[in-house]
Amino acid sequence: MIEGSDSDARLIEGILRLKRERNAIILAHNYQLGEVQDIADFVGDSLELSQKAAQTSAAVIVFCGVLFMAETASILCPDKKILLPDIHAGCAMADMITAEGLRKKKKEHPGATVVCYVNSSAEVKAESDVCCTSASAVNIVEKLPEGREILFVPDQYLGHYASTKTGREMILWPGFCPTHARIKSQDIVRLKQEHPEGKVVVHPECRPEVIALADEVLSTGGMCRFARSTMAAEVIVGTELGIIHRLRKENPDKRFIPASEQAVCPQMKLITLENVLWSLDEMAPEVKVPEEIRLRAKAAVDKMLEVG
Ligand code: 13P
Ligand code: SF4
Repeated sequence: MIEGSDSDARLIEGILRLKRERNAIILAHNYQLGEVQDIADFVGDSLELSQKAAQTSAAVIVFCGVLFMAETASILCPDKKILLPDIHAGCAMADMITAEGLRKKKKEHPGATVVCYVNSSAEVKAESDVCCTSASAVNIVEKLPEGREILFVPDQYLGHYASTKTGREMILWPGFCPTHARIKSQDIVRLKQEHPEGKVVVHPECRPEVIALADEVLSTGGMCRFARSTMAAEVIVGTELGIIHRLRKENPDKRFIPASEQAVCPQMKLITLENVLWSLDEMAPEVKVPEEIRLRAKAAVDKMLEVG
C-alpha cells in the first residue's frame, strides 16, 4: 500500500516534471486546497491572478480555481493554452446571471453603465462596460462618470458595499455567493466575545450585517497583506476556509479563526493534485473563449486592469 505522503510526493514529482516539459505555470486561488496552493507558482486573489496571467511568458497556464478565472486568463492570453483541471469547477454566483438576462435588464435601463464583477461568464462580461474584482470594486465605481445610472451585476452584496463606500446609487442584480452567505452576524458577535482582542476581517461578498461588524473589508489578497502587517495576535476571518492554510503558513506566530466552518466553496475543492497531474499530461480540459465574445469581454477586463 502507498502511504498518503508517498503518493503525494509522486504526484508532485510528476507535476513538476510535466510543468517543465510543457513550459507551464500553475496559478492557484487563495481558496484552493492547501496541497494545491503548495505546488503553485503563484497563489493570489482574482485581480492578482489575472495580472499574473496577463504577464506570464509561459505557453500553458494551469488554472487552479474556477471557470470564470480560467476564462479571464483566456480573454487576456488568447495565444496561451489555459487548462482548468476540473471543467465542472464553476462559480455558483457567476451562474446566477446569463447574458440574455443581462441584455433584458439593460433594455429596462438604457444608458446605464454596466459594472460586472469578475465572478461572471465571458458572455456576461461581453455585455458589460467595465469589470471589477473584490479588490477594485470601490475604486472602479468611484471613477464612473456622474449622471448615468449604474447597473451592478451579479453580486448584490459587493454592489451594496461599493455603493455605501462611494455614495453612488446603483441598481443591483440579486446574485450572491452561497458560501459567503453562510457566514452570519451571530458568528461574528460570538467570536468577538470569545476573542475580544482579535481583529475581524471579512470579504465584501459577505452579507451587509456581517460587513457592518468587521474591522476590515478586504479581498483575499488584501487579507493576506493585512495578516502580515497587523499587530493583532488573533484574526477572525470571514471568507472561504481555504485561505486559512495560506494565512497560517505565512504567519505561524499569529492565530487565524474562521468566522464559520460552513464557509466552504465546493467548486474550489474540485481541483486536486491528481487532476492537476492528469491535466498537464493530457493537456485538457482546455478553456478557450470564442474570439467574438473574447474581444468584447476584453474591453471590460482591460478597463479593470487599468484601474488595478
Ligand atoms: P477574491 O478576488 O477576493 O480572491 O475573491 C474571489 C472569490 O471568488 C471570492 O468568493
Ligand atoms: Fe463563487 Fe462563492 Fe465559490 Fe467565490 S466562494 S468562487 S463567489 S461560489
